[in-house]
Amino acid sequence: MASENILVDIRSGVCTLTVNRPDKLNALNRQTLLDLDAAFLRAERDDSIRVLVLTGAGDRAFVAGADIGEIRDLSAVEARAFSALGQRVMSRIQNLEKPVIAAINGYALGGGLELALGCHLRIAADSARVGLPEIKLGIMPGFGGTQRLLRLTGTTRALELILTGEPITAERAEVLGMINQVVGADALESTVEALAQTLAAAAPEAVRGILQAVNKGADMDLESGLALETARFALCCATDDMREGTSAFLEKRAPKFTGR
Ligand code: COA
Repeated sequence: MASENILVDIRSGVCTLTVNRPDKLNALNRQTLLDLDAAFLRAERDDSIRVLVLTGAGDRAFVAGADIGEIRDLSAVEARAFSALGQRVMSRIQNLEKPVIAAINGYALGGGLELALGCHLRIAADSARVGLPEIKLGIMPGFGGTQRLLRLTGTTRALELILTGEPITAERAEVLGMINQVVGADALESTVEALAQTLAAAAPEAVRGILQAVNKGADMDLESGLALETARFALCCATDDMREGTSAFLEKRAPKFTGR
């Protein structure tokens, strides 16, 4: 399941994918994007995996962007395909029916931030720096950054970050709603692990319903979003896990969800 560019570790229902090009600060070349895409596809189909964690190898970077060496030689036709590939990977992550947590352990710049923005939850080390510096290269974000940052922060902050290209601290990113939590670098792994285990123990149908209702709802009118919520709520109520969760509460004990 692993490749040279993407390390895979599966334990107790949690699959950790590590972008592994530390000498290039984990920059995303075309092959790494293809390997990431394949890894997420396999994880989606593996029923033993409940939650995914995405991080970068080494202690300097999550991902420092798309590979600038490859970008420099792109023709317009190749650039279009490169952008489409990046967007496909980020959308695959966002549309996954299992929660994906980005553990941002250093620079998350350009395609690296776009990758993190495709994830459902983002926990960052206080040493991390995030931004969309493409403008400094004479280009603009092409892996979904303009759209996902806009939806998270609104136009005022999105334009500021993308037009200046200046990276910001993890603390600032948290204030802007781009990151869920900032922790000391030493606590990143344990914080993400605890969150992943909590999510892995949750009822899978409820998790799937929440991910779909929130993700799709963000781009729907209210009426349509509410209809989707009702449909997914009803589906949850068709599960053994719903009986177990409600019974456990009434019997004052911890629930044990089985995924049925
Ligand atoms: N693409 C290709 N290679 C990259 C890269 C990227 N996005 N980001 C870093 N690297 C490479 C560097 O070229 C260098 O390789 P080398 O040792 O073969 O010369 C190596 O990773 C280490 O990076 P370096 O720049 O020496 O580290 P630094 O600590 O001085 O600076 C950054 C770190 C992140 C500030 C700097 O690497 C940077 O600005 N990277 C590009 C960020 C960017 O513009 N991303 C958007 C791309 S669309």
